[in-house]
Amino acid sequence: MEMSEEKEVMLKAAKEAGRIIQYYFQGTFKINNKGSVNNLVTEVDNHSEKRIIDIIRETYPDHTIISEEAGEMITDSDYQWIIDPIDGTVNFAHGIPICCVSIGLKYKDQMMMGVVYNPLMNELFFAEKDKGATLNGQVISVSEKDDFKKACLVTGFPYKWPKTYEHPIKVFERFIMEGLPVRRLGSAAIDLCWVACGRFDGFWEYNLNPWDIAAGYLIVEEAGGIITNFDGDPYNVNDKETLATNGLIHSDMLKIIRSKI
Ligand code: IPD
Ligand code: CA
Ligand code: CA
Repeated sequence: MEMSEEKEVMLKAAKEAGRIIQYYFQGTFKINNKGSVNNLVTEVDNHSEKRIIDIIRETYPDHTIISEEAGEMITDSDYQWIIDPIDGTVNFAHGIPICCVSIGLKYKDQMMMGVVYNPLMNELFFAEKDKGATLNGQVISVSEKDDFKKACLVTGFPYKWPKTYEHPIKVFERFIMEGLPVRRLGSAAIDLCWVACGRFDGFWEYNLNPWDIAAGYLIVEEAGGIITNFDGDPYNVNDKETLATNGLIHSDMLKIIRSKI
């Protein structure tokens, strides 16, 4: 089947960024922090990001680009590329092979396409609106588990949260008190993809950014999953509350998240 030009550009950018990540992994590179001591950016993030932006710009010089380190390059175009050059930078900086490049393409308000590529595990997740989701070319779908008590969950913790908001550890505690296994991988994009391929049954996190979720969001939906905010409302990439599940345990998870005492 012929590949659309957007898909070709997206996959090329992800694979080249992946090559850069792989090359530097467990090697030497400069690490800086942004704001807080554990919020890291490495020279590899910038290197990966520059390559991705250069590749997109070669074909689409007038598209809007929103990228974590480089910021927003807004144009009049209805197309928006949303990029995280390394999601899971702390893992990358510590030699933990759970990190990826994430690139999403939005047209107006609709996510059209997304790729999440972890070169260290050789896993490339891809989805296109209404065309399903794949892992290394094989169609994937969310799990069929409907017994919440047997679910395996994943979450992440923000570096900062407003005082008015319940501390994320409290929500974590409620799931643990239910006796459920809850993992914390350190890459929101990978968390979402692992829900999409059925390894996890649900993922929640507070305070993510559009570049963490843009691609993974579409991958979850195209794999048959559901993604909402903590009110259960339809999701958009600017939402600060993210709940992604196989659909079958969504209301159980919402109940626990919202059961603040
Ligand atoms: C981080 C990861 C992590 C999540 C953080 C994100 P980064 O992204 O997705 O899982 O818990 O909130 O900031 O900084 O590695 O690109
Ligand atoms: Ca990120
Ligand atoms: Ca990042």
